[in-house]
Amino acid sequence: MDTNALSKISHGIYIVGVKDENNRLCGCIVDALMQVTATPFGIALCTNKKSYTTACIKNAREFTVSILGEDADPKLIARFGLNSSRDIDKWQDVDYKLIDDLPVLTDCLGSFKVKVFHELELSTHILWNCEVLDAVDGKDKTPMTYDFYRNNVSSLARKAQKGEEIEPVKTQEANNTQEEKFELKWVCGVCGHVYDGEIPFEDLPGDWVCPDCFCGKEVFSQMKVKASKGN
Ligand SMILES: Cc1cc2nc3c(=O)[nH]c(=O)nc-3n(C[C@H](O)[C@H](O)[C@H](O)COP(=O)(O)O)c2cc1C
Repeated sequence: MDTNALSKISHGIYIVGVKDENNRLCGCIVDALMQVTATPFGIALCTNKKSYTTACIKNAREFTVSILGEDADPKLIARFGLNSSRDIDKWQDVDYKLIDDLPVLTDCLGSFKVKVFHELELSTHILWNCEVLDAVDGKDKTPMTYDFYRNNVSSLARKAQKGEEIEPVKTQEANNTQEEKFELKWVCGVCGHVYDGEIPFEDLPGDWVCPDCFCGKEVFSQMKVKASKGN
């Protein structure tokens, strides 16, 4: 088996925020997270059975997710991804706000809070099936993918972990001289189809379905998408 193939599965990079049984703020970096349902909005996350975050989720049955951009500080990734809350207070000196009583990064692309409704024990990990309870949009920047992390951030995070000086991350946006514009569109929550028809979305008949995945209008919501060239 050539595991290089598996490393090309695309993931984002996120910080999970959770509380332990003593109400201490904890959490870690994750990439094994995906949206799984649209109504209600559901996500799945896999966490390693040995991590402290897993013990906290088991106990609290709820957590937050902060979505990292390519510009996320490698020191922050080292702090949350290369250390355990068993040993350090990860949220100390980090700029955060609370959704209800759980922490999310102030400077991120967006954040949300979930509750666990089902868990599945796998070989090394636990799969958490969750419903999204609240979400807050953040800055419009390029999300960090696992591929970008491996190629541009991982070595810097490891240097930061050793206390070495690090140079700034070279984001793709810094190489892109044109500033990106965004516009509000109706987007399918199941397949990502962006509605671009002449009839306003609100005026489409009730039995209209997504041309790509054939789901109904109810799975569509308004989202900011990159404007097409010329707009
Ligand atoms: C880029 C990156 C991605 C990671 N993805 C996951 C993941 O999806 N699930 C997981 O359980 N741990 C993941 N980890 C590892 C945890 O962040 C790491 O084990 C952390 O030290 C756990 O801390 P804790 O003991 O405080 O929970 C990832 C780490 C990095 C650097």
